[in-house]
Amino acid sequence: MHTVIIKTKHGKINSKNMKSAASAIRSGKVVVFPTETVYGIGANAFDEEACKKIFEAKGRPSDNPLIVHVSDLNMAKTVCFISKKYEKYLLKVWPGPLTIISKAKNTVGKIVTANLDTVAVRMPSSSIALELIRTSGVPIAAPSANISKMPSSTSGKHALAYFNGKVDMILDAGRTKYGIESTVLDLRTFTVLRPGAFSVEDLTRAFGKKPRVHSENVVSIKKVRSPGMKYRHYSPNTPLFLYKGNIRDLNKMLKKHKKIVFIGSDNACSMIKGVQKIRLGNYQEEIAHNLFDALIKLDSVKAKFAVIQSFGIEGFGLAVMNRIEKASNHLSFKNEKQLHKLMNVYKK
Ligand code: TXA
Ligand code: MG
Repeated sequence: MHTVIIKTKHGKINSKNMKSAASAIRSGKVVVFPTETVYGIGANAFDEEACKKIFEAKGRPSDNPLIVHVSDLNMAKTVCFISKKYEKYLLKVWPGPLTIISKAKNTVGKIVTANLDTVAVRMPSSSIALELIRTSGVPIAAPSANISKMPSSTSGKHALAYFNGKVDMILDAGRTKYGIESTVLDLRTFTVLRPGAFSVEDLTRAFGKKPRVHSENVVSIKKVRSPGMKYRHYSPNTPLFLYKGNIRDLNKMLKKHKKIVFIGSDNACSMIKGVQKIRLGNYQEEIAHNLFDALIKLDSVKAKFAVIQSFGIEGFGLAVMNRIEKASNHLSFKNEKQLHKLMNVYKK
């Protein structure tokens, strides 16, 4: 398939290109576009045939529902029910990196909701995404633009590597603002189903109450798990192990293993000697922003194993640790013995 690639200048897209992207959406085509979190792979949410193509391009299982992107509250109400109680809060937090789960209207197809009676909806703050939805005049169903189970695209470069030749159009606007996906909040139970770029602290401030966090997302800092199922998510192909200890001790453990790559903050990287390193920056925002890029880079380094450090779970940290736990398939270690055990399992 020929993919039309449109590069934006200074974060802007000219109106001719915007119109052709919008008409592609309206005519049932698939367009990869930037949002403030990660790139999305989108199609008209009211067009089941078009949405089917998203699942095919990603290799996404059909039981994983899509997020519907809208440009205003009225458009949101064409796809889901929003109680008066929550309307005023949504006007406060949208546009932004918060996805809500609410009861679906029958305007959206079963393929989008994966047969659930709820639908995920968000209003992105990226001006390109908003303009694309507005110009199309229809809500856009879009999961993250990555091949299923691989790390999400945080730059046009990633999106091209995944989808050039597999979709109708790619809008390349360089790097996204946050680099981590939106927070998924179930409005009915006020529970965070996926931590993301809208922190639990910010949710608490905006809604005046603390959301519950689904137990699957509560990071098990102390728990050391042994290799289990090989099902992975956000995962590089290189086996990745999470280190849950002191960086100074890690330096001694890694020295003997030349083929390991270490992924960590700039500060941690400066303490680790003699192995290849991928730096994430020092501030929480930088680390969130650089994480997926680092996981994608990792596979081009051709290391045998990779080790990533753990971070605190305040603010963006909860989302960062959630992605790291998944990318490492919950394989973690605290000492040399546990590291060797992990390496033995993955030795080819
Ligand atoms: O930042 C983001 O959210 C990006 C950009 C493109 O907007 N999108 C994204 O989509 O990350 P995706 O499909 O990769 O993740 C959507 C998540 C999945 O975990 C999915 O299972 C969940 O939202 N989800 C969607 N509909 C749902 C529903 N009705 N009930 C519960 N979870 C739902
Ligand atoms: Mg995704």
